Amino acid sequence: MTPSTRATHGKDTVASLRARLARLEREAAVRQRQLEHYAADLREIFKQERNRAQELRRSYKATVLALANAVEARDAYTGKHAQRVAAYGLRIAHAAGIAVDPQVEFGFLLHDIGKVAVPDAILFKPGPLTQEEFALMTAHPTIGSEILRHIDFLDDAKTVVRNHHECWDGTGYPDGLAAEAIPVHARVFAVADALDALTTDRPYREAVGWAEARETIREAAGTQFDPAIVAAYDTIPDDAFARIREGVA
Ligand SMILES: [Fe+2]
Repeated sequence: MTPSTRATHGKDTVASLRARLARLEREAAVRQRQLEHYAADLREIFKQERNRAQELRRSYKATVLALANAVEARDAYTGKHAQRVAAYGLRIAHAAGIAVDPQVEFGFLLHDIGKVAVPDAILFKPGPLTQEEFALMTAHPTIGSEILRHIDFLDDAKTVVRNHHECWDGTGYPDGLAAEAIPVHARVFAVADALDALTTDRPYREAVGWAEARETIREAAGTQFDPAIVAAYDTIPDDAFARIREGVA
């Protein structure tokens, strides 16, 4: 190869390398644009999925509230009890460092759904219940968990519904569970439920003030209630509960 043909060959090589590089750059740019499209598509899909999930959660909550309101519509005394007690339960769980997912909150709202099976004459009886009436009344947690049996999205809610009348010392119902065998959210709920029951007028007695309710709940720590949950409740001032009640009303 002469020096001139070598120079020509060298130029060809450089030109072809440049051409190849330019082609590779074009291909890379096309691929980058494709990837950007894919990323944009994925973002859009995620956004739509998130919106759908939020919409679903809203629908679930609306359905649960409709069910809870259907139970409460019978009882003029307890108006909005489920929403108040759910809000108290969330506050107490927060103070105790216990996470509450939406399913559990649904359990708080639906805790007394089994009362749909209790006749008005028993539910609103001002005097003491006969043994049979008491048996029917105390069946409401079991009936409630049966009502929810086939609703998969309420799986965690069912333990609250079934076990919200268990006692720390094992004397509650329906399963007679004691101490930590009682699902923790049911233990939290029991305190919230008592707080609302005590501070609301009932057919058989008038409401007491926040301070008196607190005394009553403290006295039942270790017998009816989990002492650790009562201690967590005790860190929350009365006016926090008063504000929650006003917010729900
Ligand atoms: Fe109940």
